[in-house]
Amino acid sequence: LATRLRPRLKTARQGFVWLVGAGPGAADLLTLRAQRILHEPDVIVHDALVPEAVVAMAAATPPASMSASARAAIRQSQDEINAILVREGRRPEAGVVRLKCGDPLVFGRAGEEMAALRAAALSFEVVPGVTSALAAAAEAEIPLTLRGTASTLVFATGQDAAGDVLPDWAGLAFSGATVVVYMGRSVASRVAARLAEAGLNPATPVAIIESATLPGRRVISGSLTDLAAYGSGPDSGGPALILIGDAVAQGALGAAEPLVPARELAA
Ligand SMILES: C[S@@+](CC[C@H](N)C(=O)[O-])C[C@H]1O[C@@H](n2cnc3c(N)ncnc32)[C@H](O)[C@@H]1O
Repeated sequence: LATRLRPRLKTARQGFVWLVGAGPGAADLLTLRAQRILHEPDVIVHDALVPEAVVAMAAATPPASMSASARAAIRQSQDEINAILVREGRRPEAGVVRLKCGDPLVFGRAGEEMAALRAAALSFEVVPGVTSALAAAAEAEIPLTLRGTASTLVFATGQDAAGDVLPDWAGLAFSGATVVVYMGRSVASRVAARLAEAGLNPATPVAIIESATLPGRRVISGSLTDLAAYGSGPDSGGPALILIGDAVAQGALGAAEPLVPARELAA
């Protein structure tokens, strides 16, 4: 999604790109630095997961001269996004904000974008954001590390670029880690199988948090065995994180939906 905000930048900087973390969804989880920088650009390039309220903050800075015709909502490939950043960043006095959900450096493809900007000799700065795992854990009161229980924290992606479940991190779950799986909904049953094959206790607690900090937030809990059932039921359409590990049991999960509905357990 690329939105042109103002015809000219209100800063002396030449061709500058900010890679900004927009946080997990709630607008007030944006950092003060990100908020300040959102007042700088003349072009903002943002992911579909970045809430409109956050994008609107950029448009709300005076003078609010964004024209409706300047808004272009287009789904782009990563190469096309890199090309947009380079093209926009090369304009004289350009100020480009690349706004990403959560933190740009956590499963945010910032690596590719930084490489493209470096290759184009464009200056840039990365502005961290609250990654969704931290916000989801905070809302559900799940301690991601816990003395004597969880001494390691793993942020894993559910699948690699080819769609395969990544094997490498499965072993980490045994060292008393809390594993947070991003982008894991469609591969939940394979993630569960991979961890079980690797020997993780089938009773290991699991929580799934959909749409953390957003309207429609949903919390689901169960065990590693139950995780195989996730993804087969109705899809809320919101982004989802899977948290696995003994520390998860310490969360405030009393009101969570069961991963395996009681009627299925009885059957
Ligand atoms: C491409 S990754 C981007 C991660 C992002 N850079 C971050 O730091 O949170 C998208 C995945 O992040 C997770 N995600 C992002 N926002 C979320 C939210 N509000 N609630 C739950 N999961 C979220 C989901 O696993 C989603 O599939």
